[in-house]
Amino acid sequence: MEKEKKKAFVTEDILKRDIAYRGMEKIPTEVYDDSKAASVAIANEIAKLIRQKEKEKKNCILGLATGSTPIKVYKELARMHKEEGLSFKNVISFNLDEYYPIDSKALQSYHVYMNTYLFDHIDIPKENINLPDGMAPQNKIEEFCKSYEEKIISLGGIDIQLLGIGRDGHIGFNEPGSSKKSKTRLIHLDKITKIDAGGDFFGIENVPKYALTMGVESILNAKRIFIMAYGESKSRIVKKAIEGPITQEIPSTFLQDHSNTSFYLDRAAADLLVRFQCP
Ligand code: F6R
Repeated sequence: MEKEKKKAFVTEDILKRDIAYRGMEKIPTEVYDDSKAASVAIANEIAKLIRQKEKEKKNCILGLATGSTPIKVYKELARMHKEEGLSFKNVISFNLDEYYPIDSKALQSYHVYMNTYLFDHIDIPKENINLPDGMAPQNKIEEFCKSYEEKIISLGGIDIQLLGIGRDGHIGFNEPGSSKKSKTRLIHLDKITKIDAGGDFFGIENVPKYALTMGVESILNAKRIFIMAYGESKSRIVKKAIEGPITQEIPSTFLQDHSNTSFYLDRAAADLLVRFQCP
């Protein structure tokens, strides 16, 4: 009897705590043991939608990210193509961003990244692949950005948008200060972003000063958004993005206003969330 009472009390306590942290988390958040499990879960969601759209004889419009974070999602999608026959013939992809200026054949370009980690391993038609043009002449940039936006809209919008998060809270290359209404454009990269990219470019001084990025509004127009963060180095910004107030200083906080966004974290990136602060 005494034992049962104790058990009931514990359950109630846990429930209260659950309510507390759910209130703190303004973006639905899934925490996995490791980045592989989180990435496989996202890849499954993407595959499900591709197959559903295929049945409906429709295209599946994917918004893709680069960086170290999505690599395991791409690896899993490539595996599903090879081993399970998942076809990407009905997929049209739009990448979030590209450095500017950069040659699309440069090792650090997101063109090369996408071929290396995904496109070379699946059957997506080449003409269905869209990336911002890091070689667009300066006087054509505005026109390019406008037509990138228009193409997405003309196809009915992005069905699933994949995102990582920068240590400064950027999504795409929407650096701190980016407005919620921002569209695809040229942007000056912040110091933190350049430091983080410095390794790939063999020194921060070689990192391009600018990037072309889809805007915050362009991202928020997606029907479904998966944002991933892995590792302890992301834990501070993850806490701000999920639990903090919405602010232009941290563009990822704008995702709190999107009705169909989920954060996928590993345990290390989630460590500072209130839900893990209860002893
Ligand atoms: C890349 C992108 C960026 C990255 C972010 C995290 O296309 O849009 O926002 O997602 O900088 O980068 P990683 O994953 O390398 O930590």
